[in-house]
Amino acid sequence: MLAVQNLEVVYDDVVLALRGVSLGVPDGRIVALLGANGGGKSTLLRSLSGLLGVHDGEIRKGSVTLDGDRVGHLGPSALARRGIKHVLEGRRVFKELSAEENLRVGAYADRRNLKANLERVYGLFPVLRDRRDGQAGLLSGGEQQMLAIGRALMSDPRYLLLDEPSLGLAPKIVEQIRDIVVEINGQGTGILLVEQNATMALEVAHHGYVLENGRVVMDRPAAELREDADVREFYLGLGAEGEAASSFRNVKHYRRRKRWAS
Ligand SMILES: Nc1ncnc2c1ncn2[C@@H]1O[C@H](COP(=O)(O)OP(=O)(O)O)[C@@H](O)[C@H]1O
Ligand SMILES: [Mg+2]
Repeated sequence: MLAVQNLEVVYDDVVLALRGVSLGVPDGRIVALLGANGGGKSTLLRSLSGLLGVHDGEIRKGSVTLDGDRVGHLGPSALARRGIKHVLEGRRVFKELSAEENLRVGAYADRRNLKANLERVYGLFPVLRDRRDGQAGLLSGGEQQMLAIGRALMSDPRYLLLDEPSLGLAPKIVEQIRDIVVEINGQGTGILLVEQNATMALEVAHHGYVLENGRVVMDRPAAELREDADVREFYLGLGAEGEAASSFRNVKHYRRRKRWAS
C-alpha cells in the first residue's frame, strides 16, 4: 500500500497546498483523485514521487509510506526504484527522440527486462509500435500521452501516478486512455488517477477522493461517488433537472459549498 497520513505540504515556505491529507492506494487498485483546479492533486502526486523539491515544495507534517515504511524523504529515482512512477501533466516526451528511444529512456534504471517491457508497451499501444522510429514530437496529442504512459511502464512500476492523462484530448482518445488504464491495472499495477474528467475516472476507479483547498472532502468507493448528488452536480455535470431546479442552482451551490468546506 502506498499512502500518505496527515500530509501537510508547503511551497516556497508560505503556500500551504496540502492541509492534512490522508489517502491510500492499495496494491492493484485504481484510485481516482478528483477536485477543482488548485485543490492540491498534482502536489499530492509530487509528494508520492519525490518531486516536491523540484518545485520548492516540502513536507511540513505527516508522512508518505510504502508498505508502512516512511519514504517521504526519498528522491524521485529512489522512489522509482521502489516501483513508484509519475506521469506528469502535459504529456511530456522527449520531442527530438524517436518513440522507441523515449521508451528506452524509461528503462534507464534497469535494463534487464527491456525487451519484455517494450513488448508489453507495444502490446498496450500498437500505434507506438507502428510509429516506433518516428520523432516523438510529431505524434498526435493522444499518441504522446500514450508514449508518456508507456515510458513510465518501462520500469514495470508497482504504482503508476497519472496526472490528468485525458486533458485536452478528443473524446474518442479519452476512451482509449480509459481502457488502457483498466488494462494496465489488470496486469497488476496500482493506479492513482488524477482527473478533471470525473466521469471517466469514476467509471474505472475502485475508490475515489475529492480534494478541495488542500483537504480531502470525500473519501468513498467510486460506485458511491457516481451516485452522490454533489459529485454529480459539481463534477459530472448531471445536477439540476429542468428550468425550475436551475433557478435554485446558486442557492443550492452555496449551501453545498458551505457543507463541504466545513
Ligand atoms: N510550484 C509551485 N509553487 C508555488 N505554489 C504552487 C506550486 N505548485 C502548486 N502551487 C499551489 O499549490 C496549490 C495546489 O496546486 P496543485 O497541486 O497544482 O493543484 P491541482 O493539481 O489540484 O490543480 C495551489 O494553490 C497552487 O497555486
Ligand atoms: Mg494539477
